[in-house]
Amino acid sequence: MTTHRAIAHTNIALVKYWGKNPGPGNVPAMGSLSLTLDGFRSIVDVCANDRDSFTLNGNPAKEGEAARVLTHIELFRKLSAKNLAFRIESRNEVPTGSGLASSASGFAALTLALARAFGLNLDSRTLSRLARQGSGSAARSIFGGFVRMHGGPEASDETAFAQPVDSSLDVRMIVLQCAQGPKAIGSREAMIRVATGSIFYEAFVANHPRILEQALHALREGDLEQLGAFMEQSTLQMHATMLGCDEPFWYLNPVSVAALNRVRELRKAGYCCYFTMDAGPHVKVLCDAHEAVRLSAELESIDGVSAATVCAPGPSAALV
Ligand code: PMV
Repeated sequence: MTTHRAIAHTNIALVKYWGKNPGPGNVPAMGSLSLTLDGFRSIVDVCANDRDSFTLNGNPAKEGEAARVLTHIELFRKLSAKNLAFRIESRNEVPTGSGLASSASGFAALTLALARAFGLNLDSRTLSRLARQGSGSAARSIFGGFVRMHGGPEASDETAFAQPVDSSLDVRMIVLQCAQGPKAIGSREAMIRVATGSIFYEAFVANHPRILEQALHALREGDLEQLGAFMEQSTLQMHATMLGCDEPFWYLNPVSVAALNRVRELRKAGYCCYFTMDAGPHVKVLCDAHEAVRLSAELESIDGVSAATVCAPGPSAALV
């Protein structure tokens, strides 16, 4: 029986999306900008079956994870008008569910493999829109390198897609693992909590377009210092929304905080390096490609950091 295999790489947002528009389609309430990484990826195999099934890293998936994947298959059944069922086997070469964007690479690869399995010949914009329905950040993992995602209060299923952005910047991202195991609060739930209960959310949304435009400008100009500065603003403003909730929560742990401080110290010492964090405790450091190896050695020595992985810009999602 034919197996359709696709591989997609994770991406990390430089300017975050953090909230969804009301209604269907998982449409982001704001745009975002990301970098696809070569170091972490998901491999998804799709094989015809008498019923839908889903295994993650070799084990039957948990109920919530399986439900999202089954909904994605259903999307393709409707689109193709073909009543087919599939066995899905997904492997993450990245810690799952810990804020290292495994859902981005997983849903991007799943989207490509399902399109092929259903016999659909889709352009990359349509693939990006479909991937978005599984996970907002997955829309960006369809593409390699720097990627812009469109969103905003007026955005719709048609207009919320990602596209690559050219830049002359030669960068690396160092991923610092600052904890083990999955995070306590998923990004979906966290977004609902901040959008409905944070006194800082409105300010985050209002300020976001300015940060995105300035970050895009810095990227086009090849200005890593400016890009890094806007990336840090976006990160800290996103994390501030969680502190402003009626029931506050945070993803930072003592190791994350030590890493943020070390990045600032290293910058004072002359390195061109900037931090970002997502819905998890890990810290990612954007830096000049030439300094990545030396920086990684400095960052690896932080107490509690269990791994420092230097990632180059990664490729687009692809069928194998
Ligand atoms: O892709 P989602 O819906 O799990 O959300 C990802 C949200 C952040 O990683 C925190 C930010 C982003 O833009 O990737």
